[in-house]
Amino acid sequence: MVVGEVKTLIFGAGGMLGTDLCSVFPDAVALKHSDIDITVRDFVLETIEMIDPDVVINAAAYTDVDGCEDNKELAFDVNGKAPGYIAQGCFLVGAKLVHFSTDYVFDGSKEEYVESDITGPINVYGKSKLLGEMSVIENMNNYRIIRTSWLFGHHGRNFVETMLNLSGEMDAVSVVDDQFGKPTFTADLARKTTEIIGLVPGVYHITNEGICSWYDFASAVIGNAVPCSSDEFLRAAKRPEYSVLINTKTAPMRHWREALVDYLIFDGQGC
Ligand SMILES: NC(=O)c1ccc[n+]([C@@H]2O[C@H](COP(=O)([O-])OP(=O)(O)OC[C@H]3O[C@@H](n4cnc5c(N)ncnc54)[C@H](OP(=O)(O)O)[C@@H]3O)[C@@H](O)[C@H]2O)c1
Repeated sequence: MVVGEVKTLIFGAGGMLGTDLCSVFPDAVALKHSDIDITVRDFVLETIEMIDPDVVINAAAYTDVDGCEDNKELAFDVNGKAPGYIAQGCFLVGAKLVHFSTDYVFDGSKEEYVESDITGPINVYGKSKLLGEMSVIENMNNYRIIRTSWLFGHHGRNFVETMLNLSGEMDAVSVVDDQFGKPTFTADLARKTTEIIGLVPGVYHITNEGICSWYDFASAVIGNAVPCSSDEFLRAAKRPEYSVLINTKTAPMRHWREALVDYLIFDGQGC
């Protein structure tokens, strides 16, 4: 539990990012969804008070972007209100909080977004995650909100895995070529989190380097991707056209193509 005398608590430890965080913080108290429901305020506060951590990392979220459209209340409870309960607990025990948010807090009408840019989510997931950021900020000062994008990792369903599966099942896999972002390897993000904890409180944009469309990303993984437009591939939730996060505060991480090679050749171990 003690890493260099720092006691760390992780919420969402069973998720894609959470599992990699557990590897980077092997002594952390790691709580999965089956251990705690972060929407139950009293339980969250009691747990944080009992563990009395120095650092809390919240990687728990309801991340089904299309599902959020149909399950609005759940989205706002998990992504919007619960981070506020965690922040209240952190405030009570004097812990730092690292909370993960998303590029989807932006509307995508601008090509690139720095940390101070005005938000304007266009789907329920983005709105709920923005509420989560606000719930953290209004309950404590000692927070680091990490906005990230297009995650892929060994411990959850993700775009790379989907492409590999579809590629084997279909002659051609249609992938949109009019939405742009920055793919990010969860193992890199988890390692970078150790550095962010030591920086000043605030909002951070942390992704792998390199901007691409979903079609470009797919083409780096499979040989039978074909481009299509978002209009041809309708989904429940609208997606921003550009959700490119620019990091103005810390050293950049490596290019997503380099990270993808590691992802594809290395079978990750988690906790
Ligand atoms: N995935 C992406 O492309 C992406 C992009 C930008 C930002 N992010 C953000 O990055 C963070 C990590 O994402 P991820 O992809 O690792 O997500 P994930 O794999 O879906 O993991 C989220 C975890 O949270 C748990 N959870 C859901 N509701 C909960 C609740 N009420 N109480 C406790 N735990 C609960 C989930 O458990 P169950 O599965 O059992 O429900 C799951 O283990 C999130 O904040 C997400 O919003 C993700």
